[in-house]
Amino acid sequence: MILAGGQGTRLRPLTLARAKPVVPVLNRPFLAHQLALLRAHGVVDAILACSYRVDDVRAALGGAEHLGVTLRYVVEKEPLGTGGGVANAADLASGTIFVLNGDVLTDADLTAMRRRHEAQGSRATIFLTRVSDPRQYGLVETDAEGRLRAFREKPAAGEPITTDTINAGVYLLDAALLHGIPRDRPVSIEREVFPALIADGVPCFGWEAEAYWRDIGTPAAYHAAQMDLLEGRARLLLPPPGEPREGSWIGTGGTAAADARVVAPSVIGARVTLAAGCRVGPSAVVGDGSTIGPDARVEGAVLWERVDLGRGAVLRDCVLGADVRIGAHARVGAGVVLESGAVIPERTTLTRDDAS
Ligand code: GDD
Ligand code: MG
Repeated sequence: MILAGGQGTRLRPLTLARAKPVVPVLNRPFLAHQLALLRAHGVVDAILACSYRVDDVRAALGGAEHLGVTLRYVVEKEPLGTGGGVANAADLASGTIFVLNGDVLTDADLTAMRRRHEAQGSRATIFLTRVSDPRQYGLVETDAEGRLRAFREKPAAGEPITTDTINAGVYLLDAALLHGIPRDRPVSIEREVFPALIADGVPCFGWEAEAYWRDIGTPAAYHAAQMDLLEGRARLLLPPPGEPREGSWIGTGGTAAADARVVAPSVIGARVTLAAGCRVGPSAVVGDGSTIGPDARVEGAVLWERVDLGRGAVLRDCVLGADVRIGAHARVGAGVVLESGAVIPERTTLTRDDAS
């Protein structure tokens, strides 16, 4: 079960154009990467608990047959929160289920997690990871056996931080537990359900893994996750569309001038035009139907579909939504995020301070 009903507020302006669960990551909807991970660990039935912009998600993923899983949608009339969302979809679930926040990118060994869950007789197991600043996450404390002692979601400013171990947003749950969650009001799995299970003495455990992990829910994290996949820090379970060529992936139907260069690792979408003298990469992601003008440079940047770069434009470590147009000789610098449809006049220089 994947929780995909949040509004994606922190990922604006990108989520003004597309729901967070399906923002493109290496030219595939984000959830496709999660479904590929689940599939790699034997999951063939997935349920999407959604409430917000479901049409976007359906348009991007459909039934997900191409990923080897059957995807069913359960839609909340009003957002029910993370716990309410899970409860609302409980009728489709039985046995032991994985529950994932729909915005975490990981290559964790879910098979090992499941083995551990079973061996311990756990009824709720939480994948735990460590971060340097845990304040924005769910803090989790365990005893020496890994049994959960406390779950504290996003401690308020001033509250002491007692651990750097956080909830990674991936759970294994005994589906029977879902029936105990109220369905008639919003419920937070983090603030209500886990603390209640711990208080009731239900066997709940943490599972720590040395795996890649990142929540892609801010523009900086969304950008960094793609660099991590391209540069090999995260294991790529689902290759980008296109033909692998010298460390890059090149989509079909494009045209490239003889002296246009693609520097690996990069992803070039379908029907992309690479004009004379341009250089794309390293670590560039170019969406379908984009045009890279003569002598333009694209490095460490993520471009959605149909982006148009003028002659001599330079992009570095930025994110451009769909249909963005960059005038000739304009420069867009690190950390800049441009909303879909933005038009940047020629010779403009944008740095992060302008964008914020
Ligand atoms: N169906 C449904 N309904 N899904 C929801 C709702 C809802 O009302 N509200 C949020 N979600 C989904 C979001 O779409 C997202 O996939 C997931 O639940 C988590 O919501 P976020 O808004 O991304 O939460 P967070 O990142 O602040 O915190 C959560 O994730 C952290 C790890 O990234 C918590 O689970 C933390 O404890 C955790 O550390
Ligand atoms: Mg999140």
